[in-house]
This record gives sequence, C-alpha cells and structure tokens, in this order.
Amino acid sequence: MRFIKAADYNDMSRKAAGILAASLIMKPGCVFGLATGDSPLGTYGLLADWYGGGDLDFSRASAFNLDEYRGLGPDSDQSYRYFMERNLFSKINIKQENRFIPDGLAADPRAECARYEAAIEGCGGIDIQLLGIGLNGHIGFNEPAGEFCKDTHLTDLTESTIEANSRFFERREDVPIQAYTMGIRTIMRARKILLIVSGERKAEIVERAFFGAVAPEVPASILQFHNDVTIIGDDGAFSLIKQNLGD
Ligand code: GLP
Repeated sequence: MRFIKAADYNDMSRKAAGILAASLIMKPGCVFGLATGDSPLGTYGLLADWYGGGDLDFSRASAFNLDEYRGLGPDSDQSYRYFMERNLFSKINIKQENRFIPDGLAADPRAECARYEAAIEGCGGIDIQLLGIGLNGHIGFNEPAGEFCKDTHLTDLTESTIEANSRFFERREDVPIQAYTMGIRTIMRARKILLIVSGERKAEIVERAFFGAVAPEVPASILQFHNDVTIIGDDGAFSLIKQNLGD
C-alpha cells in the first residue's frame, strides 16, 4: 500500500483529483469507480473545474458508483444518483449512457445486482476505484460482517452507518435501512484503488484497517491484499499511525 500524506482536506482533494485526472489523460476511455459522501466532494469539484478549464475530456470515460440506497430514485435529493449528477456528472461531459449507478427503485434486487456486475464486466472492468471509508471500516456499503460479501448485493445497513448518514436526512426515520453495493470482490477487481480519508475521527479506523488484521469485521482491511492501493490521508486521519510512512 502506498500512503500519501496530505496537509488537510483541500490538499487531499487536490492530490486525489490529480491522480484521477492523470488516469483519464493516460487512458481517455478510463472506467472510473466512484464514491459518494463528504470525502470525494472536493475532488469532484476540482475535476469539474479542470474540465471547465479545458484540461480534461470525459467523453470516452465511464463511471460506476459503488452503491445506492434501496428505495430512492434519481429525483430524491438523498439518492446517490442525485448526488453524482449534482456534484460531478452535470458539470463534466461524461455521456449519460456511461453513468452507472445501481437502480434504487429496481423491482428485482437480484436481477439488478447481476445487471450491475455484467455492466462493469461489459466495460472491461474498473481502471481506478475511488473509495472513502466509513467509521466502522465499511467500503461502499460493505458493512462489518462474519464474512466478505463478494459481488454486488443488497445489504442491511448497520446502526452506526444509519446514524452517520442521518446527517444528510431531515429525520432519522427517513434514512434507508438497505442499500445496493458493489461487493468486496467487485472492488478488489479494480486495477487501481485510491482511498481518501480526512479528519481525526477516522484515525482509529485507518489504523485498524490498514495496519491491523485482515478480517471481514473491518471490510476495508481486505485492501491490504490488493497490489495497487494508494491511500491519501490528512494529518488528522493519519494521526494514530506509528509506522513511518515515508515522504
Ligand atoms: C457512506 C458511503 C461510502 C462512504 C462512506 C464515508 O456510507 N456508502 O461509500 O465512503 O459513507 O462517507 P464520508 O466520506 O462522508 O465520511
């Protein structure tokens, strides 16, 4: 694993956007795996700015989001589809048909998961997967469990995730209790993984996930087994790491 130290959230965002931009320049038909949450917002803002400035062209790129709440459609301002359209897709020239997110309103969850996996495969697999990390070590919505869930699946959200995500909803009872998510195998198949993490409240999970045992109780720990992972963290997020991360 490669650790890149960032001074703060903005610095983390600049470094992450730089890596994603470089991937696109190197491969105009790049297949991105994307994430939602607060962590990637700054990164998306920069990519949109650089596109606006004429430096990037997403016309041949594709994007697959990690996850989506079950029960929320594109018009719901809490859906991840809405988040992606608002914060990135509407600001860049990625084609409509190349924006993939699980359909939160799908009638048949099993068919939806299979469709999603097939779509990723159909695009030749993910070149670079952007990840955040949940306070309990989840990636996408792969929650701590007794085993690693492999493929895209429908999952029950844990209390801690519902609690953490309730900040985006008016009432706690509005937070969906289930979500579609890429599985651990789906994520691990990405050729490159770029995880961004900011703030002291994530310091403990960063230490556990990347320096502790690899176990499904801390889903992000599996990334220790991937051969091309870059973790960009700011001072707060890396504050409990005792090992020398180099410069
Ligand atoms: C959500 C998303 C994850 C995200 C995580 C952390 O639950 N499903 O993909 O990485 O929360 O979010 P944040 O970056 O807001 O801390």
